[in-house]
Amino acid sequence: MKKGMFITIEGGEGAGKSTLIERLAHTLQSKGHRVVTTREPGGIPIAEKIRAVILDPGHTEMDARTEALLYAAARRQHLAEKVIPALCDGNVVICDRFVDSSLAYQGHARGLGMKEIWAINAFAIGEMMPELTIYMDVSPEVGLARIARASEREVNRLDLERQSFHELVREGYLQLAAEYPDRIHQVNAEQEPEDVFQQVLTIVNRCLEGIQGERVQ
Ligand code: TMP
Repeated sequence: MKKGMFITIEGGEGAGKSTLIERLAHTLQSKGHRVVTTREPGGIPIAEKIRAVILDPGHTEMDARTEALLYAAARRQHLAEKVIPALCDGNVVICDRFVDSSLAYQGHARGLGMKEIWAINAFAIGEMMPELTIYMDVSPEVGLARIARASEREVNRLDLERQSFHELVREGYLQLAAEYPDRIHQVNAEQEPEDVFQQVLTIVNRCLEGIQGERVQ
């Protein structure tokens, strides 16, 4: 049985997810929570290998459906091998990206359709949805300028997409945030990092207290 809490962090390129996740994990740990941080695609060796195949800048011939299926395959393995066991063990799992990424990138921006992407992901994830998703909203101009400045960051195949693709990714996320307001909390990621962090921490604490309250009853 699942005893922990599953939190996913979403956003376009350069939204500041990694820095936020690191800080959030430290803060929750300092309050006594056991925390596992991880990422998609990846987080375990098999899924990291799938990640390398998907994101190889040389793989320009990759078909959009192949790409969507590979993300779903990596997701399944990551859930089965890492996320579900960690949740059953009572951890707070903070995952950098999850199914909303596939819906926004492959479903909306690539034009495969959100319904179609839900269908292949339903097979991959079953009922395993996060209790809370933070969507870090940033315009592609600001996000892409940030990653252009971060010289140590890997350049992947999706970074090489035109700005119009990243605009569509954002549009997809905004649709999802409007459709699932109970689960997805939108944060303006163009604010100062400290303000973004405090806002996210308030949302996470509220959700943790809510879950603990429900489980005590
Ligand atoms: P990252 O740079 O945040 O680690 O993500 C890798 C890239 O993969 C990023 O451009 C978003 C993309 N992606 C998808 O297109 N679909 C997905 O389902 C996931 C998880 C990531």
